[in-house]
Amino acid sequence: MDHSYIKVYPSILSGDFGRLAEEAKRIEQAGADGIHIDIMDGHFVPNLTLGPKAVAAIKRSTSLFLDVHVMIYNPYDYVEAFAQAGADRITFHFEATEDVEETLRFIRKCNIEAGLAFRPETSFSMIPKYLDKCDLILIMTVSPGFGGQSFMPEMLEKVKMTREYCDRYRIRQGGIVAKESLPADSFPPFNIQVDGGINRETAKACVQMGANVLVSGDYLFKQPDFGKGIQLLRNSS
Ligand code: DX5
Ligand code: ZN
Repeated sequence: MDHSYIKVYPSILSGDFGRLAEEAKRIEQAGADGIHIDIMDGHFVPNLTLGPKAVAAIKRSTSLFLDVHVMIYNPYDYVEAFAQAGADRITFHFEATEDVEETLRFIRKCNIEAGLAFRPETSFSMIPKYLDKCDLILIMTVSPGFGGQSFMPEMLEKVKMTREYCDRYRIRQGGIVAKESLPADSFPPFNIQVDGGINRETAKACVQMGANVLVSGDYLFKQPDFGKGIQLLRNSS
């Protein structure tokens, strides 16, 4: 994978919630590609975090891309609130709604990117149907709900199968299917994100299997030099 396509999004869940604006600035100064914001409802996952008001506060303190990962039931009902709060992408869970396609369409209608996330126990077979309808697939590499968990190596196969499928059917960024007459690499690769337990070693394994968007909380926030940590992840392959 060409390194210019590898993006690193620190997860602000591992930051200091009493100083969200400062944390956002620190992430920006460290050279990240965006900020990953975890939204949890205490039902879809057994934890509670932030809502649209906190996303709006983060938006005011940075110009970075806001990658909002909603781990909530009925995500459709909250799309507008998070879009208005400044989300640049909303990624919701396949398992959290009956209206996956409708929710993807609605997010795109709000002029932001639509991502679709899959819990570890959901099989690869559920993914292909949505590749041409979204901007990113998030393959969870831990059970969603908490930062600081250990990476699940079994998820590497799901990443590999997703990348192979995209390559076989020439699916590129934003679900564009590249025409046979054009070289497939004239479009950036389809975004495959991994989230949970990402550190130097696991990032490398994920990138080798075809992931290009890396979310990292605990590992990055524990680095003495945040910027260097981001660089190390970005250079994974
Ligand atoms: C887990 C969240 C993650 C979490 C990752 O449910 O979706 O974004 O913050 O944190 P680490 O890198 O610590 O596993
Ligand atoms: Zn997340």
